[in-house]
Amino acid sequence: MSTILTTTLIISAITSILAAILTAADRTVGNYGEVKLTINNEKTYTVEGGTSLLSTLRNEKIFIPSACGGKGSCGYCKVVVTEGGGPVLATELPLLTKEEFAKNMRLSCQCKLKQDIKIEIPEELFNVKEYASTVVKMEKVTPTIKYLRFDLGDEEINFRPGQYVQLKAPAYEGNDEEVYRAYSVASSVNDKHAIELLIGYTGGIATTYVHQHLNVGDNVHINGPYGDFYYHEDDNGPIILAGAGTGMAPILSILKYMAENNINRKTIFFFGAKTMSDLFMLEQIKYFEEKLPAFKFIATLSREESPDWNGDRGRVPDSIIKHVENGENYSAYLCGSPAMIDSIIKSLEEKNVPLNKIYYDKF
Ligand code: FES
Repeated sequence: MSTILTTTLIISAITSILAAILTAADRTVGNYGEVKLTINNEKTYTVEGGTSLLSTLRNEKIFIPSACGGKGSCGYCKVVVTEGGGPVLATELPLLTKEEFAKNMRLSCQCKLKQDIKIEIPEELFNVKEYASTVVKMEKVTPTIKYLRFDLGDEEINFRPGQYVQLKAPAYEGNDEEVYRAYSVASSVNDKHAIELLIGYTGGIATTYVHQHLNVGDNVHINGPYGDFYYHEDDNGPIILAGAGTGMAPILSILKYMAENNINRKTIFFFGAKTMSDLFMLEQIKYFEEKLPAFKFIATLSREESPDWNGDRGRVPDSIIKHVENGENYSAYLCGSPAMIDSIIKSLEEKNVPLNKIYYDKF
């Protein structure tokens, strides 16, 4: 047993040393000079070779989603490389589906510029900007969730209700890594000089930064907007909104949009929480109930023991089964954990909500 363990340790040490030698060799020997980067067959940039496609694009102020900060673990930074990307690396394979592989998708954080390269990215990524913001408001809305408002100064952000931004957490005491993390925007699309976010504490690098190190008046870099989860103008039937915890953020942005534009579609917002103390933004919800007569809020509590709670108990998927008669004309917007969304989708299918009208953001 101890021989196997020793052999494993030796092999893993050799692998790490080899990786370090290769990286060092690539840095010192790999002088790739200038290379041409062509995007969407339209824009060509002359850039220094040798760095990753992700950081090269960022230097050119083109921001690709990169929630893991370029570590090759989130899979957000995919772009199509039509020429010059070199072979797909072993670090990319676990995050590429067969279809993506066939479409020449690559992880831009892993793909290094060694020669002229041609890529394709969605046009809307040209609308993504980096903002130097200032925290102007911060309050705890539950024991684990903070509401934050960031002022963008003279800069303007244009996004769709439901989209997300990335916040840069710099190094701080006890953490020497700089990371970007994705958070859905809770503010109105008309509030163009600010961004509001709801950030829950998970013990991770970025949430520790926000909950334990960030103060009102601090400067924070935010880039965005991103994402294909957003309110669809072309639907006009009734809507189911569902979320839990910070999953309320994009739903708030959607409801603000509906309230500001007097979109009075029948709308039920199913919100899941553990206890009454985990319910928040209730004043805001009350405002939507007054402004939008066809809007209804249903909170479902999974661990509330107090007899004072008169609402639903259990899980959101059960509340959907209970309150929705026939969902065939509905569309649905869901934001929450993958497990929660999967079980909500099952309930929606049971109620005949068309699959192509179910939009979701798993986080
Ligand atoms: S940035 Fe996360 S995988 Fe590339």
